[in-house]
Formats: sequence, structure tokens, C-alpha cells
Amino acid sequence: MSSESQPLLGNEVQTEAPPTSRFALTGPKRKFILSAAALTGVLLIALGASVLIVGWLKKDGNGSGKHDPSRIEWSACHGKYFCGKFQVPLDHTLKDGEKIDIAVIKFPAKDSKKSLGSILVNPGGPGGSGVELVKRAGEKLAEIFDRRYELIGFDPRGVGESVPIRCFPDALKHRAFDAGLGAIDVSIPGAFENALAHEQVRSLSCAKYAAKILPYLSTASVARDMDLIRHAQGDTLLNYWGFSYGSILGQTYINMFPERVGQMIIDGVVNPNAWGEGWAFWLNPKTKNLDWLQHANEVVVGFATECERAGSERCALAVAHPPKKPYVHKHLESIMEKLDKEPIPVLDALVPGVVNGQTVRYMLFRATYKPDIWGKLAEALHAADKRNGTLLQNMVVQPPEDQCPLYDEPAVESTLGIACSDFPAPAYDPSKLKEEIALVNKKYPIGGFDAAELTMGCAFWPGVAKERYVGPWNKRSNSTVLIIGNTFDPVTPIESARIAASLLPNSVLVEQDGYGHCSLAQTSTCTNEIIRRYFVDKTAPKHKINNCTADAVLFPPKKKDEKGFMSSLKEAEESETISDVLSDIWSRSMF
Ligand SMILES: *[C@@H]1O[C@H](CO)[C@@H](O)[C@H](O)[C@H]1NC(C)=O
Ligand SMILES: *[C@@H]1O[C@H](CO)[C@@H](O)[C@H](O)[C@H]1NC(C)=O
Ligand SMILES: *[C@@H]1O[C@H](CO)[C@@H](O)[C@H](O)[C@H]1NC(C)=O
Repeated sequence: MSSESQPLLGNEVQTEAPPTSRFALTGPKRKFILSAAALTGVLLIALGASVLIVGWLKKDGNGSGKHDPSRIEWSACHGKYFCGKFQVPLDHTLKDGEKIDIAVIKFPAKDSKKSLGSILVNPGGPGGSGVELVKRAGEKLAEIFDRRYELIGFDPRGVGESVPIRCFPDALKHRAFDAGLGAIDVSIPGAFENALAHEQVRSLSCAKYAAKILPYLSTASVARDMDLIRHAQGDTLLNYWGFSYGSILGQTYINMFPERVGQMIIDGVVNPNAWGEGWAFWLNPKTKNLDWLQHANEVVVGFATECERAGSERCALAVAHPPKKPYVHKHLESIMEKLDKEPIPVLDALVPGVVNGQTVRYMLFRATYKPDIWGKLAEALHAADKRNGTLLQNMVVQPPEDQCPLYDEPAVESTLGIACSDFPAPAYDPSKLKEEIALVNKKYPIGGFDAAELTMGCAFWPGVAKERYVGPWNKRSNSTVLIIGNTFDPVTPIESARIAASLLPNSVLVEQDGYGHCSLAQTSTCTNEIIRRYFVDKTAPKHKINNCTADAVLFPPKKKDEKGFMSSLKEAEESETISDVLSDIWSRSMF
């Protein structure tokens, strides 16, 4: 996998130019994101598999000739797929300005003559790669709509293999900078100030090396790119499937181009009004309707409750003769406290390291996204409680070649570039920020950290985008929009989906009764059938649906022939689910 990786080319817009005056450092201050990698140091980001996919990026002159820039030139890649590059204006407001490259990948329809058009996907992030999603999960996604459409993944500008955001002179300096950021614990004197200053360096470096592209990374610019891809594919209406942050991209498109809305699904919905709050969205524990983490703690409690319900045969943290319920949640807290005081040195793992309380918090947060790892996590936590950290360490670390890729992966900057430029943050005030971070951390021991990272990453961002869509969010679209939410989603609460549905006059809401981030976290035949009918028959449910449940049982009975970790890792890579891929992408951004 990683052997196909090669240095990313195509950094056409990287310049040594000083910050432009429009985008100067005196602009409004910004808030927001950092990859989860930074949060427990640099060791994190679990759940395996490779990151970027290069391959067709070769500058072999193919396509550099005089082809019609409004069309995509596809060429076969990765087996059943087709890859291409698509040119869009750097600045959509200029008529004949500079063009940038957008990387696209296509999983073809079963029968091209009967194809119903194209469906564009976005996995979220912000900063997630649609090319990666389709390359790794395209076939499985396409099964849901019977392969009646072409499925198209694209890397938004500033992401993956599209025109990159390069904030450092070279890959090594970038990596070395990231490695210098240790764990952030606001209770350690000076740690907050240091982390914030570190983010200031990142922002200044972005302003210096990526000045040319920074003003053009907003969600609105990406919505325009999607519209050009739609046009290039010959579709009159845009069909779209967006997850998580992809729901913001979707809602932006719907409201910018309501008359061009075809079959569009947003799943794991972010409240558009709240997104518009920027700073307050990530970090405001007081305002309930802005509280994106509002169900995070409940999902952790759900993990404990469901473990007790499954019993000791199926959940390693449950005991045969249970004390007064609930007891697993208390036990979890005691495990974290103990590991805070006495970290476990782990030699016998994929990468040697230390398992501590923060490792558990990180893994628990990841597990709130993805209930299908709950059984495995319970086993790992049980072993760690008995002072064997091998399983937990193996869940948390990436394979070394993914952790230290040989190419420059600007994941953090991709996330910041989009999120920080969508909305201006209020004037930067370190003492207020620190206070807010402490509050959020207290309220959300699991996940609160991420909110802090996001906020600090944007605190010094050099400015907002030239074009931003800031509402209204209530336009009547040409076709009915399908909105999907889970009742217990840790980062995109069902309340946000309800708000989006109440705003969009031509929309219908499906509330899936289950845990995890986005409906695909727990496969539901019921929800999949609604999606299938929506795409294939173009029929949306007449009314709100709230009786879809997940198929799989949580904490399934153990299989007899459990494989060793390494062989099961290999197998997992071969049989990865859509939710595995989405989860990998979110682990490198946010949601
Ligand atoms: C720790 O757990 C791993 C994985 O289950 C196992 O292979 C290993 O032998 C254990 N180590 C010790 C010292 O028991
Ligand atoms: C929008 O919907 C109307 C009515 O369904 C239809 O006649 C029209 O062609 C649609 N617009 C586009 C651009 O397809
Ligand atoms: C959900 O409710 C609708 C309407 O009451 C019903 O037709 C449908 O069969 C139900 N679906 C499930 C999965 O229970």
C-alpha cells in the first residue's frame, strides 16, 4: 500500500510570496481544528490502512495538451476504477484567472447505458479525501444503489491529491514541526500557552508558504467546484452523498444552487447555523444548541451499559456475577485514573510505546464513532486493567509506514485551511480561550480535547476566504433532500439533523436508532433500503422516519477461531467496511 506512495507533485500554487494584503495577518482572527494526531502526542490515529493514494499523478504529459478543460479525462486506475484531473478556477470570481487541479476518481455504473448519472461523495473532515473514500470503499458504497450511478470521489481543493496546501518548505520540515508538538494538558503550567504558540507558528508558516491558496479553500469554493464537475459529467442536477462535514458542503451547495439539486443525501449532519458561529461552535459548552459534543458522554455510557447487557461471555469488561448496576462505567473511570498514575510500558506491539489514561480516553472517543469496535476495545481495556497494554497499543498506533509516510501529508493544514477560512473567529483572547478549553475539557473528558485543538488551530489563522457562504440555509431545492442522523451520534447530534430538516423546506429526515457517527457506523438494512430507493427510484419517504434500527448486535459472541493480531490486521484491511474507511479519514481530521 504505502509502497505506491510517492512524493506529491502539483504544488503549482506554492509560492514564496509574502502574505498578500488581502490575506494579511491583521485580518480577523480565526479559530478551530487540529488532527486528533496531535492530541495525545503524535502516536495516535489508529485503525490501520494507508493514507494517500497516488499513482496516476504522474506528470507524463498526458492531459497537459489542449484538451477541453471542461471535461474530465478518465484513465483506468486501481483495478475497476478510473482516475482523472479536473481543472477549476483558483478564484471563481475571475473570468480567466489561474486554474488549479482537482483529483477525481470514478467507480463506474454497472451498465453505462442505463446509468442514472453521477453521484459525488464527500467523507467529511473537513479535509477528508473523497478519492480515498471511493478508492477504498467505492464498490461497497455503489452496491447500496445497485451500481446504477457512476460514483465520483474528489479531493476538495487543499486536500489530498488536489492542489495542496503546503505550509512548510519541505516534507521533512513539516514532519519535524509536527513531531515537536507534545501532548496538551491545560492543567500543566505553560502547556496551553506553548501549544497555542505552536499553532501560531503553523499559521504564520501557512501565511508565508501557502498565501496564494489560503483565500480560496472555503466550502463555498468547493461547492462551485462540485457544480463544475456535475456539468463536466453532463448532469443537469447534482446527485450527492455527504457525510459529517460533508453535510455542510451539501447544505452549502443546496442553498447556493437550489435549482440544481438532484438526489442529495446528508448523513451525520452539522447544524449550519452553528457552523456559522465558527469559534463558538467548537468551543461553547454553555450554548446548548451549539453543542456538537452533546451526546459524546452518553455514547460512552452506552458502551458501558451495552457491555453490561451483553454480559461477561461477550464483553470482557463485564463480570459473571455483576455488582449493582451500572458498574462498567465506574470501572472504566478507575482504569483511566489508574493508568494516568501508572502508565504501562508496552514492548510487545506493532510499535513499542506507553499506554496511559490518555490512550484510553482517545480510544474511547474513537469508539464513540464506531460501535463495531466495542467488543475489541472492551477486551483491550480488560487486558490493560491487568497490566497488559499490547492490545490497546495495537488499536491506537498506526503501522509505522503510515505514521511516517514518505510523502508530505498536509492533513492538519487541509482541515484548518477549510474550517478556519469559512468563518471569522471573534477577536483572539488567550485567557478567555484557556478558560473555555478548561470548561470543555471538564464537561467532556472524552472528546473535549479535540474541540480545544480545533479552536487553537484557528486562533491565529491568517484570514477568511474571499468567498464564503454564510446562509440563509432554508432555500427550497428542486428535489427532496434526504437527511439522515443517528439518535446517539457523538459529534453530530440528532438535534442538528432536525434543525437542518426544519430549515430546508424540501427535505425529509430519517432518524436511525443507534450509536456512532453517521448511519453507516451501524449498518441498517432499513436505512440502506431507504437510501437505495431514494437513489434508484428517486423516491424519498413521504414523512419523517424514526423506526430504522441497526442490524448487528453490539458485542457479538466471540468467534471460535480468532486469529492473531497481525493476521487479523491483514484480513481487516482486505475486508474493510465503509465505516472503517470513514473512521480512518475522521481520525485524521475531525468529523
Ligand atoms: C499480552 O497480550 C498479548 C495479546 O493478547 C499476548 O500476545 C501477550 O502474550 C501478553 N503478554 C503477557 C506478558 O502476558
Ligand atoms: C426543477 O424542477 C422542475 C419541476 O420538477 C423541473 O421542471 C425543472 O426542469 C427542474 N430544474 C432543473 C434544472 O432540472
Ligand atoms: C416503520 O413504520 C412504518 C409506518 O408505520 C412501517 O410501514 C414500516 O414497516 C416500519 N419499519 C420498520 C423497520 O419497522
